[in-house]
Amino acid sequence: MLAIDEKTITEAALEQMAGTPNARLKEIMESLVRHLHAFAREVDLTPEEWLGAIKFLTAVGHKCTEFRQEFILLSDTLGLSALVNAMHDRRALEDATKSSLLGPFYRSDSPTLPLGSSIVGKGKQPDTVIYGRVEDAAGRPIPNASVEIWQPDEEGWYDLQKLDPSEMDLRGRFYTDSEGRFNLRTIAPTGYMIPMDGPVGDMIRAQQRHGYRPAHIHFVVSAPGYREVVTALYLTGDPHLDSDTVFGASESLVVDVNRHDPTSPYPELQSIQFNFKLAGLTGERVSGRVGADPSQILQKAAH
Ligand code: BEZ
Ligand code: FE
Repeated sequence: MLAIDEKTITEAALEQMAGTPNARLKEIMESLVRHLHAFAREVDLTPEEWLGAIKFLTAVGHKCTEFRQEFILLSDTLGLSALVNAMHDRRALEDATKSSLLGPFYRSDSPTLPLGSSIVGKGKQPDTVIYGRVEDAAGRPIPNASVEIWQPDEEGWYDLQKLDPSEMDLRGRFYTDSEGRFNLRTIAPTGYMIPMDGPVGDMIRAQQRHGYRPAHIHFVVSAPGYREVVTALYLTGDPHLDSDTVFGASESLVVDVNRHDPTSPYPELQSIQFNFKLAGLTGERVSGRVGADPSQILQKAAH
C-alpha cells in the first residue's frame, strides 16, 4: 500500500481521478489539484488557515441570493474574471471591442425600449445621451443588433441594491436601426464602492484596498452571426481608472463626456459616443459571459 505523505498525496489524488471520462473535466480537475497542492505547500498552509478559508467560502455562499452574487464579486476582486475575459478576447477571430466585467448587477430581463428612450425612472430627468453604431470588424454597420445597458444611479447604487430590488431602473435593451445606429438618454454615472458588507468586503479591508470602481456604464452587445461582447465604458478623468478594484477599466474602453456635441441626436445634452465592434463567430458553443443574472445562477445550482 502507498504511504500517503506530503510528497505522495498529489500523485495519489491525480491517480484516483485518472479515469474521468470527460477529457476537459479531467484536464481542469488535474490542473486544479496540482496548483492547489502547490499553493498549500508554498504557503505552508496550517489547519487553522485551512478552516479559515472554508469559513470564508461558506460565508461567500451564504451571502448569495437571487439579487446578489458574492462568488462573482470574489472572482472579480481576485482578477480572475478579468483574466478569463482577456483570454476570451484573445480567442476572437477578428479585432473587436474588448470585454469588461459583467459584474454582479446584470439582469437578463431588462425592458426593450425604442431608440432615443430614457432609461432613467421615477420622474428624474436624463442629462446625457449615449450614441454610436454597432459594426463588424470591417466597420460595416450591423442592423438590428441588441444593445443592453445597465448602470448605477447618481449616488452609485444599482436597482438591485435598493429596498425593493425587483423594481427595475437604469436598464434597457435597444435595437440598432438599419444603419447600425443606437442612441439612448440617461444620467452620467459616478464611481462607486463595490458591495463591502459581505466577506469579500472584509477581504478588501484586510488588504487595505480602497474598494472603488471608476465611473462606468455596462453593455452587452450582440447580433445573430456575431460574437457577443460584454463590456463597459469608463469615463475619462475618474480618479480610480488606474486602480479599479475589479480590474475592468482598460484604455480602449475609456470615453469622454462631451459637453458640446452638434452631431449628437440630442445636442442639448452632454454626450458619450462609442462604436461597438463585433467579431464574427468562432464556432464556440459557449457564451462569452463571465457572470450571469444572480437569480439564474441560483436556479441552475438548484438543479
Ligand atoms: C460592476 O461594475 O457592476 C461590478 C463589477 C464587479 C464587482 C462589483 C461591481
Ligand atoms: Fe458596475
